[in-house]
Amino acid sequence: MQPVEVSENSIQVNEAFSKQSFHYDDDDLQNPLLQMMRSQVYDHVARFIHKPCRILELNSGTGIDALHFVRQGHRVHATDLSTGMIDQIKGKINQLDLHGRLTCQQLSYDQLDQLEGQKFDFIFSNFGGLNCIDDLSKVTKNLSKILISGGYVTWVIMPPVCVWEILSLLKGNRNALRRFGKKTNVAHLEGEHFQVWYHSIRSIRKAFGPDFRLARFEGLAALSPPPYAAAFPVNHPMLHKMLQRADISVRNYFPFNRWADHIIASFQLVA
Ligand SMILES: C[S@@+](CC[C@H](N)C(=O)[O-])C[C@H]1O[C@@H](n2cnc3c(N)ncnc32)[C@H](O)[C@@H]1O
Repeated sequence: MQPVEVSENSIQVNEAFSKQSFHYDDDDLQNPLLQMMRSQVYDHVARFIHKPCRILELNSGTGIDALHFVRQGHRVHATDLSTGMIDQIKGKINQLDLHGRLTCQQLSYDQLDQLEGQKFDFIFSNFGGLNCIDDLSKVTKNLSKILISGGYVTWVIMPPVCVWEILSLLKGNRNALRRFGKKTNVAHLEGEHFQVWYHSIRSIRKAFGPDFRLARFEGLAALSPPPYAAAFPVNHPMLHKMLQRADISVRNYFPFNRWADHIIASFQLVA
C-alpha cells in the first residue's frame, strides 16, 4: 500500500474514529487492562495538577478522561479531530449538565494556534492519539503560547519498542514486529486504513525543545499485556498478577521506561 498524504490521513482518521465512537465507551469499560492503564496514567498526572485547574485535552476521544478530571473539580476543554468523538462529548455535556465545566471543540492538535488568547494550566493527551502525526513539533510549536509559565504537559504515546509484542513473537504473533523496520505503519480500524508513527522518548524530548524540561517519564504496560490482549488475565490470572507486579518495579527504569506499549511523559514549561 502506498503511503497516504497527511491531509488524506486526517480524513481517514476521522472516518475510522467516528465509526468507533459509537461503541468506544462500552469497549473501554469492558476491558480491565485499559482500566488499569488509565489508573496508572491518573496516578502519574496527579503529581502535576494539585489544585482545581484549567485543562486542555488533545485527542480526547469520547471524553472518558475529561469526565474524570471534571469530577475531580477541574475544568476541561476537550478537543479531537473526529466528528463522532466530539458528538459523543457534546451528548455527555448535555446529559450530565456539565456546561462550563466541560467544553469541547473539533480541532486537530496541529492547529492549536486557533486557541491563542486562551491559557491552560495543564495540557493532556492520552492513549496514542499523538501517534497519528509524523512530527510532534507540529503540535509542540504552539504549546508555549497557550500554557501558563511553569505549567505541565502529560502525553501518553506509543514508542517504537514494546517488550510484550517482541516476546509474543515466540507465540507466532504476526504483528509482533509491527513497530519495526519502517518509519511509519498502517493501522486498520473499522474498515479504514491510516498511517501511524511511533515516537521514542528521545524524539518527544527533541520536539519539546529547550523551553520545556522533562519532568518524568515511565513505561505503561512494559511487561504486562497491552489492551488488545484482554483475554490474557482471564486465561493466566497468576502470571498476569506477577507481570503487573514486575511492571510496577521496573517501569521507571531503563529500558522499561521507554520499551513498553505506551510511555507516559511529562514536561514543564520553564521559559
Ligand atoms: C485511541 S483514541 C484515544 C482517545 C482518548 N484519548 C482516550 O484515552 O480514550 C485516539 C484519538 O485520537 C484522535 N486523533 C487522531 N488524530 C488527531 C488529530 N490530528 N488531532 C486531534 N485528534 C486526533 C482520534 O480521533 C481519536 O479520538
